[in-house]
Amino acid sequence: MDKVIIFDTTLRDGEQVPGCKLNTKEKVELALKLEDLGVNVLEAGFPISSPGDFSSVEQISKTITKAVVCALSRAVQKDIEVAAQALKYAKRPRIHTGIGTSDFHIKGKFNSTQEDILQRAVQCVKWARNFTDDVEFYAEDAGRTDNEYLSKVIEAVIKAGATTVNIPDTTGYCLPHQYGEKMAYLKNHVGNIDKAVISCHCHNDLGLATANSISGVINGARQIECTINGLGERAGNTSLEEVVMVIKQHKALGFYTDIDATKLYPMSRLVSDTMRMPVQPNKAIVGSNAFSHSSGIHQDGFLKDTLTYEIINPDEVGADSSKIVLTARSGRSALAYRFQKLGFSFDRNDVDILYSRFLKIADNKKEVEDGDLNEMAKEYQLSAMSVQP
Ligand code: KIV
Ligand code: ZN
Repeated sequence: MDKVIIFDTTLRDGEQVPGCKLNTKEKVELALKLEDLGVNVLEAGFPISSPGDFSSVEQISKTITKAVVCALSRAVQKDIEVAAQALKYAKRPRIHTGIGTSDFHIKGKFNSTQEDILQRAVQCVKWARNFTDDVEFYAEDAGRTDNEYLSKVIEAVIKAGATTVNIPDTTGYCLPHQYGEKMAYLKNHVGNIDKAVISCHCHNDLGLATANSISGVINGARQIECTINGLGERAGNTSLEEVVMVIKQHKALGFYTDIDATKLYPMSRLVSDTMRMPVQPNKAIVGSNAFSHSSGIHQDGFLKDTLTYEIINPDEVGADSSKIVLTARSGRSALAYRFQKLGFSFDRNDVDILYSRFLKIADNKKEVEDGDLNEMAKEYQLSAMSVQP
């Protein structure tokens, strides 16, 4: 089994989401929980961006003992110096530096040339190596960068001392097979690729971030950059809980992570509460409906054998137990089950009668709740008593 390094960027890419900004105290608290969750690398912030972020990275560096603490910078000397200063107290500091390599960036953003960008890439890695041996280079918009040029850049930055090479699909453009092919291309064409770890950093603009990251590791990457709840610029980043559970569920892929999956759900709630950013109910793994069953066919199968409709036991991710939700699409087995949970035991005939009453209520409500069931059951028991001789 090969280890996939989990690089968490909730506190950097995730925090860039409008409305999700955190203060230093909140960032330090989340960093401690992320370390406890088992993340290997913690991207703490972008120190040059503001004094507040500088202080967050500095405080996190003082607090975190096991995980690598990483700070972002552009390919600018001052950025790198400030990142290094903020990381001064880190036990295991990493500088993450880089530059855009696609034509969109080279021409549109920098009005430059491929040759000049290559030199700037090499230069920024050399600057960063003056401060730490752990330097990660990002080729921004690598997803839309020509593979031949990307290989040249990657080979040159590894030669300059980069120990991790990040291949971001910054705009979430790639299809899973394309992103995977990019990794395979780098593995086969970059002469010194064995001297660095390849990292996936995928955005979710087409909803493909998780699939792309998994395709990346299948094709040679060994680090995934991700965030809790998939937070991040625009449509977000790869969701940490999703990639961790894909790797856990599909053992045949031959990978593992150091994440304690039982802490995923509490971590998701903590991030959601701290950032005041709700989790969509149908979010994989951590959404409130991820372990809810509401249609009659599913409920019947689930109540006979949970494996019919659940591939993950909620305990595995620290979520509340599975829910049987009663709606107008629910069936008799679900109704009988819920009555039983409330302490009523009805036979088949009772349930048949109660079911038609239930449907009348359910057609007028989004969800039938315990209060409705208690009322129904008591009315039914009273009416049954009154017809007895
Ligand atoms: O999406 C991206 O390209 C990034 C880089 C700064 C790593 O976030
Ligand atoms: Zn990003």
